[in-house]
Amino acid sequence: MKRISGGFSLVIAVDRRAKDPLHKQIYDAFRSMIVGRRLRAGEQIPSTRTLASDLKVSRIPVLTAYSQLLAEGYFEARAGAGTFVCSSLPDQVTWNTGSATRSTPPLAGSRAVGRRALLLPPYQRIPWLRGVGAFSVSQPAYDQFPFQIWSKLILRHCRNPHASQLHYGNPLGLEPLREAICTYLGTSRAVRCDPQQVMIVSGSQQALEISSRVLLDPGNAVWMEEPGYWLTRQVLTAAGCRLIPVPVDNEGLDVAVGIKACRKARAVYVAPSHQYPIGATMSASRRLQLLAWAESSGSWIIEDDYDSEYRYGSMPIASLQGLDSNSRVIYIGTFSKTLFPSLRIGYIVIPQDLVSRFAAVRHAMDITSPYLYQAVLTDFMKEGHYARHIRRMRLLYEKRRQALVAAIREEFGSALEVLGSEAGMHLAVTLPKGFRDMEITKHAAQEKLWIAPLSPAYLGKPVRQGFILGFGSTPTSQMAHAVRRLKAVILAHGKLPAKE
Ligand SMILES: Cc1ncc(COP(=O)(O)O)c(C=O)c1O
Repeated sequence: MKRISGGFSLVIAVDRRAKDPLHKQIYDAFRSMIVGRRLRAGEQIPSTRTLASDLKVSRIPVLTAYSQLLAEGYFEARAGAGTFVCSSLPDQVTWNTGSATRSTPPLAGSRAVGRRALLLPPYQRIPWLRGVGAFSVSQPAYDQFPFQIWSKLILRHCRNPHASQLHYGNPLGLEPLREAICTYLGTSRAVRCDPQQVMIVSGSQQALEISSRVLLDPGNAVWMEEPGYWLTRQVLTAAGCRLIPVPVDNEGLDVAVGIKACRKARAVYVAPSHQYPIGATMSASRRLQLLAWAESSGSWIIEDDYDSEYRYGSMPIASLQGLDSNSRVIYIGTFSKTLFPSLRIGYIVIPQDLVSRFAAVRHAMDITSPYLYQAVLTDFMKEGHYARHIRRMRLLYEKRRQALVAAIREEFGSALEVLGSEAGMHLAVTLPKGFRDMEITKHAAQEKLWIAPLSPAYLGKPVRQGFILGFGSTPTSQMAHAVRRLKAVILAHGKLPAKE
């Protein structure tokens, strides 16, 4: 049984001077809320006494309106429980019923929206992002997260908050968290910064958005890794930039090709520690080439370091930012992989002379990040829980990764090529000729296998068809079974070459 959300009062305006009588005004208000789907089937309606008191009218017009709505089937009375929006009303009430045409219609293609909004296609939920479970990309092992510690820290910071913690904060974020991140980045990622250069943001996504607003103008050319991270592409497209796809090989972004295609690009987006989606690590010579190009052309490098805490078989790779002596790198990191994505906390390390520009844009956007989780995360880091959690997870993901690679080999032999399994929580596989990854992905989602297709990662014509497979969320013991289920889905779309 649903109540009107949280017991809030309904917004009904009655006007004693209007020509319609009060009962008609109340009747019309309910009818249009139901038709306009602001009140849903099964939601509880306030009692006549409560509504009369809220509206400061006598009960008589309320009783008259309710009995009319009951008679017409908009309301239903349940003995001993109260009055409800009729539960048999269809969820999708048609828009052209009587007076309801005056309420908000759904957005039509012809409605005037700003040109910037038209740069992106309308949002649609993507099949492979709808669920959690086997192969879901970017899904950490939620069941391994130390929620006991986390919830204690939440309580610590909720109990007696100081007024300053409830008020607007600094657009750069909470100072102690920025200090903790700075210490962590200095030791673990060889990032050179001080806390005054760190801005706490709502994940890498906001970091990219703020960076694009500060650094880029519509029409600017920007190099984009090809294949690359589709959500960066969305930000740059929405900013009106001209994207220059620059191919990625096993040494990372091919800088020479980028220079040939567009030497004067305003910026480049790279994930040098663990390229998304094919997993290459940028070689030292390419890093130096990229920094030299950025210096000579006055371009910006946006470095996305989203999951390199997890590197297997070798030491973590130092950041590009740490090599940069010309303050050309904007360094972006996130807690989405090491903690969980719904936390929505990430950070930007900003060149010193740009800090106040970034802060101004952030302030105009959403002022600052919420206080509570910044404070919780500060303690989580400073008390050593973060480092401990990463150490545990690195061992766990290493096992899951090995189990996934072994199961792919067992089921597919060399029919699927495995790319980029040395770091992070996902790897990529390429399909033999003739298979279409989009079709297989949609089918897999129906089977609750959350593989992501490789072809949409290309801006131009896809060079490869394949999948990105997350291994963070699947226990080692269930990996072989999940891969067998995936094989059954793939086989429904074509014949695989004989195993070698
Ligand atoms: C390349 C890349 N960057 C960043 C992120 C993390 O994004 P966010 O911090 O907005 O959750 C992801 C998540 O999958 C990613 O694949």
